[in-house]
Amino acid sequence: MRAVLLKLSNSPRMARWVTTHKTTRRMSQKFVAGEELEQALAAARVCNDTGLKVSLDLLGESVTNAEQARAARDSYLGIFDRIAQEKLDANVSLKLTQLGLDLDVGMCQELLESVVAHSTGYGNFVRVDMEASAFTQRTIDVVKAVRRKTESVGIVMQSYLRRTEADVRDFLTIGCRMRLCKGAYKEPPEVAFPAKSDVDANYVSLMKLLLPSGIYHGIATHDPKMIAATEQFVAERGIGKDKFEFQMLYGIRTDLQRELVKRGYNMRVYIPYGRDWFPYFMRRLAERPANMVFFLKNFFRG
Ligand code: FDA
Repeated sequence: MRAVLLKLSNSPRMARWVTTHKTTRRMSQKFVAGEELEQALAAARVCNDTGLKVSLDLLGESVTNAEQARAARDSYLGIFDRIAQEKLDANVSLKLTQLGLDLDVGMCQELLESVVAHSTGYGNFVRVDMEASAFTQRTIDVVKAVRRKTESVGIVMQSYLRRTEADVRDFLTIGCRMRLCKGAYKEPPEVAFPAKSDVDANYVSLMKLLLPSGIYHGIATHDPKMIAATEQFVAERGIGKDKFEFQMLYGIRTDLQRELVKRGYNMRVYIPYGRDWFPYFMRRLAERPANMVFFLKNFFRG
């Protein structure tokens, strides 16, 4: 089921059908704040009011021409302006294929540089999401090149990839902020651990590499076991709760998000918005059978 959903997430025909269907549009609101920036800002305000930090993501990936990539860049510049105007505790997450990574690496790097420079003007921060493994090396190269000019850019590491431990060690040497997640794409066994137990074990060992580094990293998971392992590790090592943050996705385990804030941790909620919500929505359905059950129940209820 996971493999089928992830394959369908790349289908433009399916995307057209799902994103124009009234019921699926309504259901997408479980994971997506809305199609417009103002809706995402309103969701961010609600989060901030309950002590949750935010990362805003304008949904969209794999653009097919330079004009779309530049338009995405312009949108991100505007998002930083609105975050500052609204005085929100929010940064931005973005995908490099939305800035043309698959069209022209040089252009993509230039566009990312301009977004990061704009964010630096506000003392803010850009997190570059990690996409499928076909883009891992190019994403790393672009982030490193931009980071040589300014430090307010970070990257994401996926514990399902066999290469990630080496990448984490490498990025630690340059003091780069990282978000650790498990990984959301369909990958072959040569590239990614097929067994969930290995992905989880790698997650815990990478977390243990990241947190003593003194760099402010993000531990992104809804998994109570990963969270318990992190809490235990920082307690044992005397690492302050303010030295890192937990991160979760909008609409998922809101109860746990608030509970972790009550326990004194920093928590950041990843808030996606925009019209191109289909691939993101499909990845969320693929992650968890319960999400698929929710989808089917609501769909047939109409
Ligand atoms: P996993 O899916 O392994 O589930 C373990 C347990 O967690 C479940 O048994 C359940 O208890 C709980 N859980 C998980 N999902 C739940 C749900 N929907 N509702 C209730 N409980 C749930 N991926 C990527 O490839 N590149 C990226 O850049 C990012 N960025 C990113 C940012 C942030 C802030 C988060 C939280 C996640 C990502 N991801 C990502 C997605 C990530 O790789 C992964 O697919 C999901 O977070 C699911 O993995 P978990 O660690 O949450 O647990």
